[in-house]
Amino acid sequence: MSFQSNLYEQLAAELSGLIASRIFAPGERLPSIRHLAQQKRLSISTVIQALRLLEDRGLIDAKPQAGYYVRHRPRTMLAVQAGECSQEPAFVGITNQLMRVLRANEAPGVIQLGSAWPPDELLPIKRIQQTVSSLARRDPALLARVSCVDTNEPNFIRQIVRRAVDWGKLDPAEIVVTSSCTEAINLSLRAVAKAGDTIAVESSTYFVLLQLIESLGMKALEIPTHPKTGISIDALELALNEGLVDACLLIPNANNPLGSIMPDENKKRLAFLLALHQVPLIEDDIYGDLCFTAEQPRPVKAYDTTGNVLLCSSFSKAVSPAARVGYCVAGRYAQQVALLKTLSSGATGHFFQAVLADFVAGGSYDNQLRKMRRILAQRLAQMSDAVAASFPSECTFSEPQGGFVLWIKMPEQVDGFAVHEQAIANGIALMPGTLFSPTGNLRNYIRLNCGNAWTPAIEAAIRRLGEIVHRVADDPLVSIRAEQSARTA
Ligand SMILES: Cc1ncc(COP(=O)(O)O)c(C=O)c1O
Repeated sequence: MSFQSNLYEQLAAELSGLIASRIFAPGERLPSIRHLAQQKRLSISTVIQALRLLEDRGLIDAKPQAGYYVRHRPRTMLAVQAGECSQEPAFVGITNQLMRVLRANEAPGVIQLGSAWPPDELLPIKRIQQTVSSLARRDPALLARVSCVDTNEPNFIRQIVRRAVDWGKLDPAEIVVTSSCTEAINLSLRAVAKAGDTIAVESSTYFVLLQLIESLGMKALEIPTHPKTGISIDALELALNEGLVDACLLIPNANNPLGSIMPDENKKRLAFLLALHQVPLIEDDIYGDLCFTAEQPRPVKAYDTTGNVLLCSSFSKAVSPAARVGYCVAGRYAQQVALLKTLSSGATGHFFQAVLADFVAGGSYDNQLRKMRRILAQRLAQMSDAVAASFPSECTFSEPQGGFVLWIKMPEQVDGFAVHEQAIANGIALMPGTLFSPTGNLRNYIRLNCGNAWTPAIEAAIRRLGEIVHRVADDPLVSIRAEQSARTA
């Protein structure tokens, strides 16, 4: 069935698109009813019906004797997701649903609002290409280097230590180079915990972290998390006092999907509390360099005085997801992590470690970060405005302080899988919220990748998505069916 079977719905969709793209900005007057009727060759009553529909959707206001005006719609901030956390540690089982979603999202021609990969056009591919050629000419031995003991490329380690000088003094001996941030986290989990142990995570958190916990037979405990300031330290302290937590796995800087940044005093308190309870923290800092704050936020590792924090990151988001170079600053777990690394995949290629070291040392990385932060902040703001204008007025939104994803809470009755199913049928990829919770909560949330440049195709996709969410909100059966089929998948 078409979404816009009636003339008035077609006109409403066209006008809401113009509002979403700010052709008609908040506070501006729409063309008069008579003008619209003449221009669009529609009857006056069809135009009025379309305008009433937009009024019902909270997009415009009628002003007596004056016409219709685009409503100022301050985006409503998300509230803390406390009520949506389960209180019990639970085994995770998201992989089947996740793989189904990722396969659908990666079909050719689909508009990518799903996975949080940076768009190629923002990456310094040319610069990396030049570094690769000059390094291969200068030091071809790097292409053959292999060792089971010296797996770190010294120049790469030097750059990691130098970049951390702003917030602390890293011991090169505690750094293990890995093939990605994912590998760094996987090895860290294996170093600090075992099957059956409970890992505290933010509600919500990046689905691959949940998958790692799942694959290692560990349990996850969701801790309430504020969309601006991150995990609730008070709630975590309660869980620690009850002896429920064996390790923590958190994204304190620009959490994926919330975009929250934990304030310094919370980071300090967290490091102290975890050291006191001797519970290690695995800190995923992959977005630490892509925050929009005036000063780059420190990691929790900056406050670690006992080697209790394992800081994990990579160059996948800002330089090259294909280089597959990451690292773990593993504190007192360095030896275990290093051994696990060698046993699971051997050394990460020295050549690409050296390429990244050159890229960072020559100043290109800082230039790249400045450019990305500026552009990503703009794109997030533009997409957020467009989404807020197209989606039902009850939706609330994250206000990301870094990264490039937007987290959206939809009306209670709307299931993220139902929205995903219909979005895919319309050639649009996104991530359903349930995948960001270990226990199947957060079902009325979705995450959108906002890293792409604003194009007519993206603009049309956001408008279409808004129509889909309205439709699913109006027909609860669609959500019930989607939830059932997701459960049995
Ligand atoms: C929070 C977070 N951690 C880790 C990763 C994966 O990084 P890598 O490609 O280095 O494994 C991602 C990618 O989306 C992410 O969002």
